[in-house]
Amino acid sequence: MPTFTIPKEHQALVLTAPKGPLEVQTLSTRLPVGREVLVKVEVIAMNHVDYIQLETGFHVEHYPTVLGTDVAGTIVATGSEVSQPEQIQPGTRVLAFATNFFAHSLAEFGAYQQYVIVKDWFITPIPDSLDFHTAATIPMGTWTGWAGFYTAGLTVPIAGNAAELPSDVKAANGSQAILVWGAGSSVGSSALQQASSLGYKVYVTSKSDHHESLLKIGATKAFDYRDEDVVQKIADAAIADGVSLKLAYVAVKTSIPAIDAIALANKGTDANPGDLIVVSAPLMEDADNMHAEEKGVTIKFVLTPDDDEERAKFFYWVFRIWTAEKIKSGEFVATQKSSVIEGGLSAIPKTLSVLQKYEVSREKFEFEP
Ligand SMILES: NC(=O)c1ccc[n+]([C@@H]2O[C@H](COP(=O)([O-])OP(=O)(O)OC[C@H]3O[C@@H](n4cnc5c(N)ncnc54)[C@H](OP(=O)(O)O)[C@@H]3O)[C@@H](O)[C@H]2O)c1
Repeated sequence: MPTFTIPKEHQALVLTAPKGPLEVQTLSTRLPVGREVLVKVEVIAMNHVDYIQLETGFHVEHYPTVLGTDVAGTIVATGSEVSQPEQIQPGTRVLAFATNFFAHSLAEFGAYQQYVIVKDWFITPIPDSLDFHTAATIPMGTWTGWAGFYTAGLTVPIAGNAAELPSDVKAANGSQAILVWGAGSSVGSSALQQASSLGYKVYVTSKSDHHESLLKIGATKAFDYRDEDVVQKIADAAIADGVSLKLAYVAVKTSIPAIDAIALANKGTDANPGDLIVVSAPLMEDADNMHAEEKGVTIKFVLTPDDDEERAKFFYWVFRIWTAEKIKSGEFVATQKSSVIEGGLSAIPKTLSVLQKYEVSREKFEFEP
């Protein structure tokens, strides 16, 4: 096992007060304890929640703190109680959900720094064939995809082998479809691959440019969301394919067309209120909630278990089991292109404003700290 010299201090982009400023500062590097590992960060990937946290203080309990969630790098030290330590040792290359979300905003847990502390349930060891840039595009999408299925009430097997499908899902094979609205996105492309691995037929929407690649990673049928008849075409496809389409995963800001597609696909059937479900990764607007009610569709924001222990088990299954196994087997692939922004941590603030203003298409902004 290699040993690493851990510096006493490192550079971090610190959010000093609500809404900023964000400043590069020197922080002490703390050693991991218990179920923590210390990761030397090679690549940081930016997500929408980063500017949402900056602008609104979402999930920030106190300042100063360090934002950011997604990294790839190398473990340089582990706590004494990590689970399955043989999988995650100093020298192991990993991707990680490195976040202050469930860590009371403590600075050492946020991704925007050179060394970050991560709980062992948020990390996936990665094969040598997966480069750090590609790996860093994965963490937020993979857990948010699974959180949607958990929220929808599907049995997410939070213990055991990733190959073991929950029995209720197995029974549905071939006869049930899921609609993923916005499969061109990072979250949507993960949800697509996860639904497919559960045995569902997966209908997706994206720009037609992405259709071929989405069909290759598990989509059954792909529709262009810009087509004015898209909702009708999706409902017609479900009827023609003889599948029940009662669940949609929405990865874009409006849920309205997905609500319409699910309602239309079930018009005149004996679906009960509560059978038709839309789960939304973005927070819903009043218009989404009202439209869902009018159409008899239940809409839910994607969530993870409330209880700390259950949540840790959920994430352990997502990162240490499912994502690890499926990356290794090649059944789960990164779809977003990494766009590396020069300038390291100092380049993050201005890139946050770019991401906030413009829609990216299959791209992640990344930084080498
Ligand atoms: N609840 C949570 O915990 C959570 C976690 C992560 C993300 N989120 C939210 O989930 C959303 C997705 O995040 P992300 O990182 O996956 O986003 P992203 O990768 O930046 O998504 C961009 C993609 O959205 C697609 N898109 C835009 N408008 C669309 C439309 N009207 N119909 C269909 N597709 C459309 C575009 O696809 P094309 O290229 O095909 O045009 C584009 O590639 C964001 O709003 C984010 O804030 C929530």
